[in-house]
Parts: sequence; structure tokens; C-alpha cells
Amino acid sequence: MAMFASMTALRRSAISSALAALAALCCACGDDDGPGGSTGEGGGGDGGGGAGAYAWGLPAGFPVPKVPEDNPMSSVKVELGRRLFYDVRLSGNGTYSCGSCHRQELAFTDHLANAEGSTGQLHSRSSMSLANVAYLTTLTWANPLIEALEEQALLPMFGETPVELGLAGMEDELLERLQGEPLYQDLFPEAFPGDDEPIRLANITKAIAAFERSLLSYRAPYDRYRYGGDPSGMSDAALRGMDLFFSEKLECFHCHGGFNLSDSVEHDGTTFTEVMFHNTGLYNIDGNGAYPEGNGGVYEVSHKEADMGRFRAPTLRNIAVTAPYMHDGSIETLEGVLDHYAAGGRTIEAGLPNAGVGSENKFKSELISGFDLTGEERADVIAFLQTLTDDEFLKDPRFADPWAEAP
Ligand code: HEC
Ligand code: HEC
Repeated sequence: MAMFASMTALRRSAISSALAALAALCCACGDDDGPGGSTGEGGGGDGGGGAGAYAWGLPAGFPVPKVPEDNPMSSVKVELGRRLFYDVRLSGNGTYSCGSCHRQELAFTDHLANAEGSTGQLHSRSSMSLANVAYLTTLTWANPLIEALEEQALLPMFGETPVELGLAGMEDELLERLQGEPLYQDLFPEAFPGDDEPIRLANITKAIAAFERSLLSYRAPYDRYRYGGDPSGMSDAALRGMDLFFSEKLECFHCHGGFNLSDSVEHDGTTFTEVMFHNTGLYNIDGNGAYPEGNGGVYEVSHKEADMGRFRAPTLRNIAVTAPYMHDGSIETLEGVLDHYAAGGRTIEAGLPNAGVGSENKFKSELISGFDLTGEERADVIAFLQTLTDDEFLKDPRFADPWAEAP
């Protein structure tokens, strides 16, 4: 089972506080699950029952996402996952759901620099787009140890640093709440056939993960041009910007390349590889390469100096709607992001918080060396980035809040 596989990984490496909470929880579910626990975990439980092939509906050029053997896709499971994703009963105080911080119209982000939890606590990082998370090899901004969506969902549910959904210590109450919902009394057994006790934590996270895997974005103007040969959504400016984006001068594509405009999909199955996390010179506090405390990227997990400031290059799909940018939302606009790269790293003037010359960060990637752009070229790159917006994805009724339409 994924959780336990990753616990082995945990032993090999230093444990961040978030993961310590997760590890504690993994032990807890082993105890609580009772007899139902082992059947489902083994992979047999829902494997056979959900036999019918799930229709991904992907166009040519898009690979089918990898799905864990013990959590096959089915449309009923995806529908259950969608209900759970948007269900405020998944928060301690009944006010919040995953969808509170991951809003469809914003490509499942929230417009905040720092996500805000159900009790008002601020997260040190900004919430991430969920478009095409199915393809990612590691999850979150900079944690090489979180690989499965099933596992990741536990963090917002039970994490306490910060409190997000605020369910710590409330597993039993959560199950009672869900057991009381007639819709779930039907959907859980259908999604997990053959499971004696279908309404349980492991199945909640499995269903949510299945829904997340269905959140596929592939209908942007750039996709229609690149994979369908239809140039109608690409202006001349966007086409020029595309050439710049994929040029050795700007280097963007090295880290934001491939069909998902992110490099972490090309390294399937590997963790801790050098290329997956990068320091872009966003900070250089006191000239010693430091990032703000507690937000040092992979360093927070590995405590290795060279990992300071290394973050995952996120997908640039739908980037025009996911401001503010970077792991801490510290850049407000795409123009600002381009300025950061053009300078080869951001400078924060002396006297301001976190002052330092990012371009001199000793841990910075070699690919971030700076470049000059004319005003027109700058506008062209932005025009290209705007062609990555997939309006159909942002409005697709299959991804919308089902409780809103039929409470
Ligand atoms: C308080 C706001 C908040 C809530 C509620 C929330 N998230 Fe998130 N989500 C975030 C933030 C912030 C991150 C980045 C976390 C980090 O880097 O440590 C994130 C990251 C993620 C990622 C990783 C995406 C990637 O590209 O790696 C996934 C998947 C995810 N959330 C799913 C969920 C699910 C499922 C739920 C509900 C069970 C949920 N989130 C609830 C704020 C939230
Ligand atoms: C060395 C790898 C690398 C290169 C080259 C690179 N990026 Fe990035 N990009 C990253 C990483 C890593 C982040 C997240 C950094 C952080 O939050 O500290 C990021 C973040 C971004 C973001 C914000 C994403 C979000 O969801 O907030 C945008 C936009 C972006 N890059 C665009 C570009 C463009 C345009 C170029 C070319 C000029 C480029 N990048 C070159 C690695 C890279």
C-alpha cells in the first residue's frame, strides 16, 4: 500500500512536520480500519468489481495517466470523489471543503498568496492547480516523498501545521457524518463493490484521488494548435511568444516542457532526482542563499543545504488564471514572473523583508541566467502563456460542485 511504502521512504530521510503528522495517521488507520482494512488495501477489494474500462476521453498525443493497481478508475468512483471533494462535512467545523481552496474557475487555485484554512490559519504556501495532477510524480510544491494522490489528501484533512480542513482527531465523527448521508449509502458500495465496510477513510481518499485523476486539461488553444493542427486560437504574437518560450535564450521549456508544461512528469517513478526541483533565485536572504524560514523548498524535507530553494516546476497550464505566482504567491502578475527570470533571479531591495539579490543565489539552477527582451517580445511571451488557458476545463460541468446544483 502506498502509505506504507512511503513510510519506508520516510525512515530513509528526514521527516518534515507535515509528514510526521501523516505518518502518525497512517499508523492510526491501520488500527482503526478493522477487518475491512486489509481486504481493500490488498487491492482485491474494489479491483475486480470496478471492471468496466473507464473512458478517459483523451485526444491523441495525451498519455493515459498511471493509476494505482489498488484504486482502478470507474465513473461511479469519480462521481463519489467529486461529492467528497466539495463536501463541507470533510472539515472539522463544517465550513470548508477541498473546493474552498481549489476553485474550478481558477483552475483549482484560490487567488490567495497564502492559502487560508477552515479555522483561518494561513498556509506558508499558495494552493496549487489540480489540472493534470494525475501525471505528476511528486505532489505539492517541494516534497519529494508525497507521490500518491490517495496519500496527499490526508494532509489537508488531518494536517495541523497549518490546520486546513481541521479533521485531526475526528476520524470517527467524519465517518458518522458521511454514513448519515443517503447518497453516500448508495455511492460507496457501488464505487467499492465487495467491500464489507465501504464508508471508511481509505475509500474516501481513494474516491477523491479518482476524481482528481479525472481533472484533465487538454483543450487550450495551444493544444488545438500543437496536437490538432488548428491555429485559430493562436495569434501571431502568441506564435512568436511560443518560439521564445521554447528557445535556448529563455530556457523556459527545459523546466516547463512536454505536454504538461512541467518537467516532473517525465521522470515517472523516480524521486529525489536532481532535475525535478529547481532553485530559480527567488530569494537570497543575506546573500547566503537562504529562502524565508520554513519555506526553503526540498531543504525542509532533506535538510541538505544544496536543496535550499528547490521547488517543483509547476505546470503552466491555465497559468493566466492562477495568480498570484510562485510557491508563496510573492509575484502578482505574469509580467512580474518574466521580470524575475529576465533578471536571472529577483532582487529584493535592502530594507524590505527578505532582502537579497536572487540572481546571486549560490544554489540557483544554471538554467536561470537572465536575458533581455524588448517590450514587444515580452508581450509575445505573455500572449503565448495566455493560450494555455483551457476554458472548457474551467467550466466543465463534470468538475463542478455537485452540491450547488442539487443540495
Ligand atoms: C486551506 C486550503 C486548502 C485546502 C482546504 C485543500 N488544499 Fe490542496 N493544496 C493547498 C496548498 C497550500 C497546497 C500546496 C501545499 C504545499 O506545497 O505544501 C495544496 C496542494 C494540493 C495538491 C498537490 C498538487 C500538486 O500539483 O502537487 C493536491 C493534489 C491537493 N492539494 C488536493 C487537495 C485535496 C484532495 C483537498 C481536500 C481533501 C485539498 N487539497 C484541500 C491548499 C488547500
Ligand atoms: C530551472 C527551471 C526553470 C526554468 C528554466 C523556468 N522555470 Fe518557471 N518555475 C520553475 C520553478 C521551480 C517554479 C516555482 C518556483 C518557486 O515557487 O520558488 C517556477 C514557477 C513559474 C511560474 C509560476 C507558476 C505558479 O503556478 O505559480 C511561472 C509563470 C513560470 N515559472 C514561468 C516560466 C517562464 C515563462 C520561464 C522562461 C522565461 C520559466 N518559467 C523558466 C522552474 C523553472
